Parts: sequence; structure tokens; C-alpha cells
Amino acid sequence: MNNDLQQRYTFACQLAKEAGTIAHTYQKKLVEEGLDIDVKGRQDFVSVADKETENFIRQQLSLHYPQDGFLGEESGVSNPDSEGTWVVDPIDGTTNFLRQQPMWCVSIAYVVEGEPVIGVIYDPCHDELFSALVGQGAWLNNRPLEVNQGDNAIVGLVNLGYSAKMPLENYLATMTRLLEHGIEHRRHGSAALGLAHVAAGRFDGYREDFINAWDIMAGIAILREAKADVIFNQIAGGYAIQASIPAISDLLKG
Ligand code: IPD
Ligand code: CA
Repeated sequence: MNNDLQQRYTFACQLAKEAGTIAHTYQKKLVEEGLDIDVKGRQDFVSVADKETENFIRQQLSLHYPQDGFLGEESGVSNPDSEGTWVVDPIDGTTNFLRQQPMWCVSIAYVVEGEPVIGVIYDPCHDELFSALVGQGAWLNNRPLEVNQGDNAIVGLVNLGYSAKMPLENYLATMTRLLEHGIEHRRHGSAALGLAHVAAGRFDGYREDFINAWDIMAGIAILREAKADVIFNQIAGGYAIQASIPAISDLLKG
């Protein structure tokens, strides 16, 4: 299995970069040519770029790993009874993508028995590949990642996500608690990239109280290998996640 996992990891890194290049080309065309956009729900959009990027990823995976399962944000599930499942968000941060902003990414995880063992997140606008293979480590491009294990954060900074599926009070309570402890927050609108940035030390934590598997599975693999504290719980229809440097884990939990 280990050799297979290593091969899948190498394949996923390359695949995320190729998929990111496809999506980035769509983003560059946005201004001049526009894109077909559908509204899936309140502040929830999908464009031809999301669909075509996911199609590419799905086709490549089914060509090279036809026995594997697949769960994608745009095209759903196939091979649900497989030993391992690829969990894919072709564009995480679609709203940013559509507004010509750079905070979005391709997120690909390989999940076995509910646990992500490979995580790959590619940010095409900055050519940054965040990746991890269980037991082997986490990297940003070629740089190994490990989050701050001490309690000496000079600038406390947390990235928050908000979902309209949860009470606004939860979000406001987290924000209040952080501010009362002198910790700043940002909301960048891409959960996957937000999690990757915690692993890379750009934030001390990330929290979102309702989120889907494809937004977080790759990030969880990367954060665990970067020795962050990760708490994710299954809730009705999705997950709640928090991930942080160990020093602020309790504060973030509330
Ligand atoms: C969304 C983004 C957003 C998070 C939402 C996600 P999408 O994913 O990650 O930051 O707050 O919960 O659904 O729709 O851009 O792929
Ligand atoms: Ca998406």
C-alpha cells in the first residue's frame, strides 16, 4: 500500500498543477469573454471553469486509478465502495475566482476509511503547491512545513469561514473571543487555502462551523503532517473544522 500511496501522491501533485493551469486560463479569460455562471444557492456559484476543471481531474483519475472512488463538488460520487476515495474541489474560493481575486485553489485529497492520507492544494496565482503524504511530512513546494509549537506568537492572526447554514451568533462569538484575547482575524473566502496557510505559518488558525468534505480533506492531511492541532467533526450534512497552532487550540474552540 505504501508504494501505491507514494505513487498516488506524486500523481496528485502533478494533477493539481495541471488542473490549476486549466482553471487559471479560464480566470484570465473572464474579463474579456465572461463565463457561464449558475447560482447554486445564496452566495454559492458554479462556473464552466469549475465544471471543466473537475471533469479533467475526474477523467485523469479514472484513467490511472479506475478502481478508486471519487467525490467531487460539481459531479458527485462514483465507485462509493472502493478502498480509497479521491475527494476533489476543482476551485475552492469560487467567489474570489469569479471576482478576479487570487485567493482560490485546486484541492485534491485521497481518503481511506474516512481519514485523508494524501492532501494536495495548488494555488495557481502564486504557483504554490501545498502537499502532504501521511507519515512522510508536509511541504510548500520543496519546503518542509511545521507549525509553531511554542506559545510565542508575536502577531495572533486567525482566518475564519462563515456558512449561512450555521447561526450567525456562533461566528460572532468566535470573532469576539479572539479579539478579546488580542488576536486579529481575516476572512479570505477559500477554506482549503486558509487551512494550507495555517500549515505554512501565515495564520495561527482556521475555523468554520459548517463545511463540506471537499473543502477540508486535503487541508487536514497537510495540517496533521505539519503538526497542527486539527479538530473536525461530522455534523448533519457536513463537517465542523478548526485547525491551529497548539497554543490557541482551546481559545479557538471556545
Ligand atoms: C467555499 C469556500 C468558502 C467557505 C465555504 C466553501 P467554494 O467553497 O471555501 O471559503 O467559507 O464554506 O463552501 O464554494 O468556493 O468551493
Ligand atoms: Ca468549489
